[in-house]
Amino acid sequence: MSEPRFLRALRRQSVDRPPVWLMRQAGRYLPEYREVRAQSGGFLGLVKNPLSACEVTLQPIRRFGFDASIVFSDILVVPEAMGMELSFGVGEGPKLAPPIRDAAGVARLSIPDPDKFSYVYETIRRIVDGLPAAARQAAIDGVDDVPLIGFCGAPFTVASYMVEGEGSKNYVEVKRLMHKDPETFMALLDKLVETTTGYLVAQVKAGARVLQIFDTWAGELAPDDLAIVAVGPVSRLITKVRALLPADSAVPIIYFARGCADALDIVKGAGADAYGLDWRARIARSWAVLGDEVAVQGNLDPACLFGPAEVVARKTRSILDDVGHRPGFVFNLGHGILPETPVDNVKAMLDVVRLARV
Ligand code: CP3
Repeated sequence: MSEPRFLRALRRQSVDRPPVWLMRQAGRYLPEYREVRAQSGGFLGLVKNPLSACEVTLQPIRRFGFDASIVFSDILVVPEAMGMELSFGVGEGPKLAPPIRDAAGVARLSIPDPDKFSYVYETIRRIVDGLPAAARQAAIDGVDDVPLIGFCGAPFTVASYMVEGEGSKNYVEVKRLMHKDPETFMALLDKLVETTTGYLVAQVKAGARVLQIFDTWAGELAPDDLAIVAVGPVSRLITKVRALLPADSAVPIIYFARGCADALDIVKGAGADAYGLDWRARIARSWAVLGDEVAVQGNLDPACLFGPAEVVARKTRSILDDVGHRPGFVFNLGHGILPETPVDNVKAMLDVVRLARV
């Protein structure tokens, strides 16, 4: 039996049409998600309950029949396991306390045993069990083998939240530490590489068949800093994970460095199998920089899904035209789907992708 088109595309093999999934495909734009979340005592309660986390992961598969599923969790469970206090206030972004601002703060962080994330692996096993039935319910071209993506935050992005203590507008605290005490900042990144390595490998052992590394804030960095504090640690992480995975596991690794359209020559130093592009990137030009030996994923502006359905269809088609017949393309948004997105527009986008032939 041939592999699912998502895996084939990531390996740059021929496919009947581009595979499609969306970052944050389980989330607040879906009424069925909001219902489970309300019953789970908020977002973290949802993440830590494998039954509900599995349920919300499968919801977008049942509704839309996406070509890939992504485990419902968050990148910030890693600093929590390292000893920080994580909270998501109602209507606010995440908070991590106390913020890490110096060498003593970094020294206090532990490198937890991968077992610390056992609830994530339990969620993964349940999802893998439930995926075939969920895909059959969607009844999209008879497909019922949907690969599950495991993920983590990239060290720099996770470190930004740890140093700032929350989301940030100008990243002054994290950049202050990076410039003032580069050794301490590197020690923090190293601890994150170490913790994340075991976590990703264990996600694969539990059933994840693809890994994605989210570097949401990489684009805030000047190019020389980008190479040292974002791409370097990701490259070490990828090398370590590959060395620990069984040789026959062939798990493609996707690196999504947001806001880096003009720095892809640096980003490709990560050595990933595929690169996620945000909506600012021009696909053909970006791919020319990244090279033929990698797959590319992206990159419809998530806000485009607020437009009329004809605009959604036209913009979707324009991305597919830009890709042309190159093997190795995965359709996605340029960042996570937004909470207020009209659900019908997701359908309008999918209809265009599913009619495309490559
Ligand atoms: O893609 C998926 O469906 C899997 C789930 C997933 C979540 N977060 C669920 C979530 C993934 C892959 C993430 C990654 C993540 N988390 C990133 C990197 C990707 C990105 O979007 O940039 C970042 C930066 C975080 C940190 C984080 N988590 C923030 C900034 C927020 C608040 C923003 C918001 O949308 O409210 C979260 C919360 C969060 N993580 C939600 C979801 C569905 C919203 C929680 C809710 O209110 O239900």
